[in-house]
Amino acid sequence: MSIWPQSVVRVEPMRQRDLDEVAAAEATLFDFPWTRGNFADSLQTGHSAWVCRVDRALAGYGIMLLALDEAHLLNLSVLKPWQGRGYARGMLRHFFRTARRNGATRMYLEVRPSNSRAIALYQDFGFVRVGLRRGYYPAGEGREDALVMASDIPP
Ligand SMILES: CC(C)(COP(=O)(O)OP(=O)(O)OC[C@H]1O[C@@H](n2cnc3c(N)ncnc32)[C@H](O)[C@@H]1OP(=O)(O)O)[C@@H](O)C(=O)NCCC(=O)NCCS
Repeated sequence: MSIWPQSVVRVEPMRQRDLDEVAAAEATLFDFPWTRGNFADSLQTGHSAWVCRVDRALAGYGIMLLALDEAHLLNLSVLKPWQGRGYARGMLRHFFRTARRNGATRMYLEVRPSNSRAIALYQDFGFVRVGLRRGYYPAGEGREDALVMASDIPP
């Protein structure tokens, strides 16, 4: 028997007090990160916003917009030290449950075509490519397209 207590993993609503930490994490993950103000606006707008904590440490976060029967996953991020351990999978399951409870039947997201890791994860959850938004993302030189992906949300 281990003498170490088990870690406690929680997915909790994102609150104002999380914003400094979330924005700092975002800046370590993306070349063109959401700002603290973007996250604050999201909370203000009432988006479905969540943090994943392992004990007290921030491991990931995500934001979803719910509109009638559609859910749009706007942000899903796992901090570098926590990547590759299934936290994105766990958070996606949480987002699907939350979307279903709110009456959504289909989930959409945008992803950079260069983000093969995220695309593999989304495909595994049943997302398929449904469109392309040209020049959607800022990039080092010019702009990068976004793949639009969608998945049904099973009842
Ligand atoms: C993409 C991201 C969310 C994945 O988070 P994660 O917690 O590392 O993912 P998980 O551990 O849940 O892994 C889920 C799947 O992702 C893919 N994946 C994870 N690590 C990978 C790696 N090193 N190489 C390739 N694919 C990988 C695999 O499909 C994996 O499935 P598996 O568990 O069967 O191997 C995370 O890397 C991240 O936040 N990246 C930066 C921000 C970002 O790109 N967000 C998505 C924007 S659309």
